[in-house]
Amino acid sequence: MGQPYTAADKRTHYCGTLSAANIGERVCVTGWAQKQRDLGALIFIDLRDRTGIVQLAFDQTTNADIFNEAFTVRAEFVLCAKGVVRPRGEGAVNKNLATGEIEIAVDEFKILSSAQTPPFAIEENSRVNPELRLRHRYLDLRRPDMKANIMARSVITKLARDYYAENGFVDIETPNLVAPTPEGARDYLVPSRVHVGSFYALPQSPQIYKQLLMVSGFDRYFQIARCYRDEDLRADRQPEFTQIDTEMSFVTAEEVMEVHEGFLKKLMKEYHGIEMTEPFLRMPYAEAMERFGSDKPDIRFGFELQNLSDLLAGTEFKVFAGAIAAGGSVRAINVKGAGSFSRKEIDALTEFVKTYRAKGLAWLKWPVGGEISSSYAKFRTEAENEAIRARMGVEPGDLVLIVADGNNDIVFDALGSLRCHCAKKLGLLRPDDYKFLWVTEFPLLEWSEEDGRFYAKHHPFTSPMDEDMQYLDSDPGRVRAKAYDIVLNGTELGGGSIRIHDQGVQTKMFEMLGMSQEEAQTKFGFLLEAFKYGVPPHGGLAFGLDRLVTLMLGLEDIRDVIAFPKVQNASELMSRCPAPADPKALEELGIAVVGKKED
Ligand code: AMO
Ligand code: AMP
Repeated sequence: MGQPYTAADKRTHYCGTLSAANIGERVCVTGWAQKQRDLGALIFIDLRDRTGIVQLAFDQTTNADIFNEAFTVRAEFVLCAKGVVRPRGEGAVNKNLATGEIEIAVDEFKILSSAQTPPFAIEENSRVNPELRLRHRYLDLRRPDMKANIMARSVITKLARDYYAENGFVDIETPNLVAPTPEGARDYLVPSRVHVGSFYALPQSPQIYKQLLMVSGFDRYFQIARCYRDEDLRADRQPEFTQIDTEMSFVTAEEVMEVHEGFLKKLMKEYHGIEMTEPFLRMPYAEAMERFGSDKPDIRFGFELQNLSDLLAGTEFKVFAGAIAAGGSVRAINVKGAGSFSRKEIDALTEFVKTYRAKGLAWLKWPVGGEISSSYAKFRTEAENEAIRARMGVEPGDLVLIVADGNNDIVFDALGSLRCHCAKKLGLLRPDDYKFLWVTEFPLLEWSEEDGRFYAKHHPFTSPMDEDMQYLDSDPGRVRAKAYDIVLNGTELGGGSIRIHDQGVQTKMFEMLGMSQEEAQTKFGFLLEAFKYGVPPHGGLAFGLDRLVTLMLGLEDIRDVIAFPKVQNASELMSRCPAPADPKALEELGIAVVGKKED
């Protein structure tokens, strides 16, 4: 049921923009009925559009026909109403509403669409089953908080476009059907109909194309680029996501960082009204690990890691001695003021670190006015306690949490996560406290025990640091890269690097990654060939736009800033994809589905 929409129904104002300043004006508004209240001879309808709500008033005595129509309106009907703006009656003013002082005395009215009762109320913060919300995402997006998120994303995206355009970046689109990547993992494949048996991949990022654009001489490139990665989902990861992707020629890492820092400062100023004048902190990867146990440290609070291995060199406690003897370490954090944590709470922390592969969690407590206590009392000595107290800056009421392991990665990972977990538990994490930092000097390569080979930590085009070139042959694990990540409050917002622009170094890099010359030629031949025709030194960075918007809005889940996100198992609940393909289409593509992986 619905009446036709004509040119005469054109809205004069958005609902939420009307105020006492419009009193006496004749207006036309359109939108959805939030609710209808029937007060006998008077009916009120709250009309909602993307800007807010305005109250429509229908009076039986002045216009019985319209009144009768208004009587049939239910929640989510689509309406067009015309009338004069007037002040609300005594006592009817709603201070909580922008339009709360006025209402529209309706004298022309149309129901453009009726509506079924929605499966959940279209209200801010209403508690709704997340699956139901995603099944009816179009209704979920009518809710003011979700609508505000999506609108904020649009504002932030525009700020990015403006900033990079102002700074001479050229917006260039790169293909979405690309060659599958060499290692293939994480690619979404697209079969070719014309070349049966051959596949495109959806891009994991525009990396190679943006480097080729530098070879073409565009000098500064920018794109809001959709990327696709078939990886396990988490709160900060989606299989398709958006990057603010950039590349620059004739730059050093420092210059790339400055340009992007400029964008974040503009964003903080224009979006939050926060002026950030100081340069963002720069911290080498090794220091970030040593102090925070993480390459994306949250520096809003302390609880920094300390290495206790030297203090405990003579310990009789096997757990500690064993870790040190195995080439690992004993490290600790001082959780200030957590001396009052109960045994049960500490047990929960122990379970927490075990999820990061730690074998256990030792603790020492200095209660206010009480005796020191610990989980390894038998083996403690006074001298060790005192040394630990001094190094950790312990005051009465503190709790020292210790992890020992023969593998330092486990110690860092467990304590790095534990410090954030404790800060959260103690309510120390304010989302409106924005602590940006650059993590620099990442290792170039990462050794995989499992595969017995090196992988590129960032990607194979990242340049080694000049001062570490000398170790490329003798000690590749020691080589640091001209790579940098921008981190905000414990989240990696973006990352990039200066690229290799020397053919010889690039060939060497492929070799170190276990690729033969022929292999490199088949996989990256076009890039290597391009580099023969004059390649400028270049580098760049990509922000995760979804993560950036999530953090700017103080949210935790990137799904809340994506209009139509996927769920944990990478499916989309509304359109129900992925879905089996039509057998005829498969036949044409020369594809036979041989089996279904068990769920
Ligand atoms: P990288 O792989 O670090 O670098 O990605 C850049 C940024 O993209 C975001 N991001 C994601 N966001 C949501 N869901 C995902 N699955 C996801 N994966 C990554 C992160 C990350 O910091 N081509 C290089 C950049 C370069 O070197 O210039 C690249 O893609 O915020
Ligand atoms: P146990 O000797 O196994 O009873 O352990 C004594 C204390 O050491 C307990 O509090 C354990 O949780 C703790 N512990 C065990 N393994 C580790 C470890 N790898 N790192 C730190 N503490 C540990």
